[in-house]
Amino acid sequence: MSTRKFLIAGNWKMNLSHAKAVELAQGLVKQFPAGSPAQVALIPTFVHLEAVGAIIKGSPMKLGAQDAYFEKHGAFTGEVSCEQLAELAVQYVLVGHSERRHILHETDSLLNKKLLSVLAGNMTAVLCVGETLDQRKGNQTQSVVQTQLQHGLAGVPTGAVEQGRLVIAYEPVWAIGTGLTATPEQAQEVHQFIRERLAGQFGQGLAQSVQIQYGGSVKKASAHSLLSQPDIDGLLVGGASLIVEEFAGIIAAAATAKAA
Ligand code: 13P
Repeated sequence: MSTRKFLIAGNWKMNLSHAKAVELAQGLVKQFPAGSPAQVALIPTFVHLEAVGAIIKGSPMKLGAQDAYFEKHGAFTGEVSCEQLAELAVQYVLVGHSERRHILHETDSLLNKKLLSVLAGNMTAVLCVGETLDQRKGNQTQSVVQTQLQHGLAGVPTGAVEQGRLVIAYEPVWAIGTGLTATPEQAQEVHQFIRERLAGQFGQGLAQSVQIQYGGSVKKASAHSLLSQPDIDGLLVGGASLIVEEFAGIIAAAATAKAA
């Protein structure tokens, strides 16, 4: 049986005023399901990290950032370094979210640099991968995901994986914010493929330890069946993570899905 814990993360994207972000974090601290076996992370915008971090300090929830730059410091206007994030007790950093790949045109080689700097900064990198609808229709899902993994994970030190500091999030672009969730079977098929690729790079034993999250229109109602699949080890939640009752319900679903 797998020893992987579920990782449930709420990606708040570019949403919420300061007051609303504070209210959401406070609401989640109050509603956090007692005895939840899942690891949980909140991923607000940079400007809300400090306030949210202060609210969840001492709770089982951890802090995550939506992006990071790979340089340590200097003339990089608008960017935020891993060192600055670590100072705010950020533990998880998303790398290569599809909105950054597609809207901001981030390339695999840039993402690889970001991922390596997150790992070098002793934080956990969550590498997001996933195909567009056209790519799925063209039977390119596996080749797209394989390329994203191959470039994104180049040079990843085995030690970081052994420490559990590499997470993969499979987020089919066609399922993000569309209300179209991949079926548990569709997601499982890709998750299994991802784990096989990880085994090719890191060996079978280590690949079995890596958490692979699913993301794309996850709701309280769909969480349990997704988490029941053998290679789905968590969820990366967008819209539903902005609603206390929905996100708490998703965390609760992790307690009753397959043994963590
Ligand atoms: P939605 O849950 O809103 O579809 O967003 C998914 C996502 O992109 C999480 O990173």
